[in-house]
Amino acid sequence: MSGPRKLHVKSYGCQMNVYDSHRMADLLIPEGYVETAAAEAADVVILNTCHIREKAAEKVYSELGRLRKWKDRAAADGRRMTIAVAGCVAQAEGEEILRRAPLVDLVVGPQNYHRLPALIEHAERKGKVVDTEFPAESKFDALKAPPADAIRRRGIAAFVTVQEGCDKFCTFCVGPYTRGAEMSRPVGAILAEVAHLAAAGVREITLIGQNVNAYHGEGPDDREWTLGRLLHRVAELPGISRVRYTTSHPRDVDASLIAAHRDLPKLMPYLHLPVQSGSDRVLAAMNRRHKRADYLRVIERMREARPDMAFSSDFIVGFPGETEVDFRQTLTIVDEVGYAGAFSFKYSPRPGTPGATMHGRVPEDVKNERLARLQAAIERNRSAFNARCLGATFDVLLEKPGRHSGQLVGRTPYLQPIQVMAPMRRIGDLAAVTVTQIGPNSLFGTMARPAPRSDGTAFTIAAGS
Ligand code: 5AD
Ligand code: SF4
Repeated sequence: MSGPRKLHVKSYGCQMNVYDSHRMADLLIPEGYVETAAAEAADVVILNTCHIREKAAEKVYSELGRLRKWKDRAAADGRRMTIAVAGCVAQAEGEEILRRAPLVDLVVGPQNYHRLPALIEHAERKGKVVDTEFPAESKFDALKAPPADAIRRRGIAAFVTVQEGCDKFCTFCVGPYTRGAEMSRPVGAILAEVAHLAAAGVREITLIGQNVNAYHGEGPDDREWTLGRLLHRVAELPGISRVRYTTSHPRDVDASLIAAHRDLPKLMPYLHLPVQSGSDRVLAAMNRRHKRADYLRVIERMREARPDMAFSSDFIVGFPGETEVDFRQTLTIVDEVGYAGAFSFKYSPRPGTPGATMHGRVPEDVKNERLARLQAAIERNRSAFNARCLGATFDVLLEKPGRHSGQLVGRTPYLQPIQVMAPMRRIGDLAAVTVTQIGPNSLFGTMARPAPRSDGTAFTIAAGS
């Protein structure tokens, strides 16, 4: 009995992994695979893993524990289940994965997954294989454009990787080791990919990279383009109504990026700009290459360019040497910026990073207590931001069916999910929506009059209640 082979790709961690997981499926579908949501029914299972914190990395081993049962059952039925570990754990641990989890057939790093069809064949015919060498060629040249139906299934908001790797070497971070040196894709390749997505119905593009605003890809004029310049061109492409980008480093915010926020109505007024800590002492130990004041100056310049600009951040508590005084500076920066939201993490020592061998480890109970206080401060700011939106009218990009029948869920310019009564045919439209209620996890709104402006202009926060 031979039908299409079934493929199950499970993605962990960041948006770059989501993008890569889609690209892996796009490579294998033309080879005769169909995607399945049921791992137990799959012929090939790919776990696209994250190594950023210990907890994230351990998830792969618990998932492999679950897969063991399915692989044994498949074997009992005379069916082969091939298991691949991809992503940053694969890059960091390589062969070690095969030793720790003998059910794994192949290990492939984030820069090598364009070789998946050949690697799967090798694993199935000749035996286990590990491919984590950084290749000379760029995987992007070998990747396949997704078919229109796959794009539509994935929704009207899509990620496009424009930059990968990082040369900043923050002392807590494995990123530069697992993703490699910084590289930028050429402008032409990015525009072609966005145009292809737009032709299939995508309306919102988020340009992604580990350090996206370090973008310096080659333009059609053979010069290096900045992210600001690239954003202009992406926003001009027919069909694209919104553009975003993530994740940025404060040191790499340049004048062209600030100008893009001033000049491009389609560039959403929302910036994820991780600060990690509010203390200059800790920032120095983290090798962040910016001080608290530099960061606040970037925020100020962004707000001068675009007064309704909203911000989010990542924070780490309990970095080695962090004192109560340092931590309070993190708490005060939260209030000073007034974040619309933020992610916060306990420091997790990562093998091979300078932070892992630093003195002054912070005890777990102190980390827990600081994390709780930080999360309370972030939540207070998020709630205040949301409360200010009550009564305001925003352009909302209607994305997919909402929680209840007759409802669609969309996003405000500030990335807040919002539920609104609207017919299915409005999916993909920008609609003017008035915020009528603030729920714990999303806003609620009603369609407003007049109809949205055709240029995609975001409404600014009107004085709400
Ligand atoms: N421990 C805790 N958090 C970390 N991050 C990165 N490395 C670590 C680590 N070792 C967080 C940072 C980064 C986000 C993606 O993950 O805040 O911005
Ligand atoms: Fe990691 Fe720092 Fe690079 Fe971000 S900027 S990927 S935190 S080293």
